Amino acid sequence: MIEFLGVSKSFGNHKALEDANITIEDGTTIGIVGPNGAGKTTLIRLLCGILKPTEGQIVIDGKDLEKYPTDIKKIIGYLPEEPNLYERPKAGELLEYFGLLYGVPRGKVHERIDELLALVGLSDRKDWRVSSFSKGMRQRLAISRALIHDPKIIVLDEPTMGLDPLTSRRIRDFIKTLKKDKTIILCSHYMNEAEQLCDKIAIIDKGKIRAYDTVENLKKIYIKEKMFKVGLKNMKSEILDRISCDEKLKILERRENYIIIKAEDYKDLSYILKEEVIYFEDLTPSLEEVFIELVGSKND
Ligand SMILES: Nc1ncnc2c1ncn2[C@@H]1O[C@H](COP(=O)(O)OP(=O)(O)OP(=O)(O)O)[C@@H](O)[C@H]1O
Ligand SMILES: [Mg+2]
Repeated sequence: MIEFLGVSKSFGNHKALEDANITIEDGTTIGIVGPNGAGKTTLIRLLCGILKPTEGQIVIDGKDLEKYPTDIKKIIGYLPEEPNLYERPKAGELLEYFGLLYGVPRGKVHERIDELLALVGLSDRKDWRVSSFSKGMRQRLAISRALIHDPKIIVLDEPTMGLDPLTSRRIRDFIKTLKKDKTIILCSHYMNEAEQLCDKIAIIDKGKIRAYDTVENLKKIYIKEKMFKVGLKNMKSEILDRISCDEKLKILERRENYIIIKAEDYKDLSYILKEEVIYFEDLTPSLEEVFIELVGSKND
């Protein structure tokens, strides 16, 4: 278990992270989302022991990170925001170097390298120099480097940033396979990515954690009302009157061939509509739109 206990980090007078209190259970995947400069990377660098908190404590499996930095670093695999890879070695050589550095036994390191390169789809590049790798290949190699010592905690800072949709999907699929038995902390600018992969999401804005909850609960909190576009067989029918009379429903727009209705839940609407519906569309905003609404306007 990872605990942030009142963790703050200042750079000079600037508070990059302020009084962060979160608990991350073993085996869960946590998304850290927030606008540029919100403090996501700072939080992650604190967790990896690269930065020291100005205030507060980070406790991992009951151990204070500041007191046991080496023990804890061994169980963390970290993909930085901008991974810096050595250019000259071949991919296999690079992973061997880091594997041995992180204590993977010499007899096992090659097996581990082959396994990882296969998982990230780079087996055929093992003997290619890193300098010849494209951006997406570098990212996949950097992920392999982060995982070489089979860490139980995996920290990924924007793993799919700047990658094409296919490579992004490949990395997301790979993260899904890791989810089974690892604790994953993932920074992302893509709300849908966080929504797809994470059990819980922390929304950070201006150094403060504004929300930390499951996607389902965040939706419940921030999407109070849903919107539906509905076409009816008979737009003049008494159904429209019944909708208007129901206090749980509100007709937002009425056109010749459809209406837009606000409701807390589709259930409230469906019992009135029954077989009258000829067209239906859910216009409820996604979590991403809610997020932009929440933190976007304040940062413009
Ligand atoms: N080493 C540093 N020295 C001074 N200020 C820093 C340092 N690192 C981060 N900051 C400041 O702390 C704040 C948070 O930065 P951080 O990198 O954590 O943001 P972020 O949420 O990761 O943003 P992005 O989405 O752009 O990656 C910013 O205002 C940044 O300028
Ligand atoms: Mg960042």
